[in-house]
Amino acid sequence: MIDALEAIRGRRSIRRFRDEPIPDDVLEQVIDAACWAPYGTERDERAFIVLAGQEKARLTDFLRERLAEVLPTLSDGPSRQILRWASSLMPMIEDAAVLVVALTEIEHEGAELSIASAACAIQNLMIAAHALGLASCYVTGALYLADEICHLLEAPYHTLVGLVPLGYAEDGERTRKQFPAVSWRGFARREADDLPGARQVDISEMARARPGAGERTDGDRPPGGRSRDPQCARPGGVRGHIGTARAGS
Ligand SMILES: Cc1cc2nc3c(=O)[nH]c(=O)nc-3n(C[C@H](O)[C@H](O)[C@H](O)COP(=O)(O)O)c2cc1C
Repeated sequence: MIDALEAIRGRRSIRRFRDEPIPDDVLEQVIDAACWAPYGTERDERAFIVLAGQEKARLTDFLRERLAEVLPTLSDGPSRQILRWASSLMPMIEDAAVLVVALTEIEHEGAELSIASAACAIQNLMIAAHALGLASCYVTGALYLADEICHLLEAPYHTLVGLVPLGYAEDGERTRKQFPAVSWRGFARREADDLPGARQVDISEMARARPGAGERTDGDRPPGGRSRDPQCARPGGVRGHIGTARAGS
């Protein structure tokens, strides 16, 4: 198995999978890695629903159907763009051997901490998957239908944080187009090539140089995140609960 740093740098978002099952012991290690991620809330209320076979097909059929119903009702705008992107990603979710649904309950500390904690678990999951020869992608395109998905999966007390298709990657190019800005301060000397994965920039200059004075531009990232478009407001869901399986100590 590759080491942690190699796994972190080697992981890429993969959107095409081979038709090959994942051995149970490999899948269990990946889910266990997710369960060991740090959490910032008092109680760890993250939950994972691991879907394969007919159970996965039930969710993907539902998503296909709902996207086909909702898309024609939306006018041009970010919501429509996000859902069109989500539709184009359906084959990725359908072809993956397994689909992990990452959920959390929003704790009293607030959504930021609950969702950040779930995102840490998703990152653990993707790194472990890569270390074990699997490919994955963090998919948020379906968040528009989050409450309906939780209802379908009988997890109405939970909030959907992301879907993570898992499988063996089809061959293909795996490039990374963008990196975060890193600004070293208080160090005697730093050369740009000290940290090959990052852009060495003056962060305040970078903000000023943005088009639209501070408005976010997403560059090459596919639309998939939450949107401020009012059409993206999610319908309120019924609340219930599911049991959460815990990692062994
Ligand atoms: C919070 C989050 C949401 C994302 N949503 C989507 C998505 O809905 N669809 C998708 O194809 N990729 C999605 N991605 C994957 C990013 O596009 C990808 O991580 C980014 O382009 C960098 O590429 P890399 O993961 O291969 O390094 C998401 C990633 C994160 C962290």
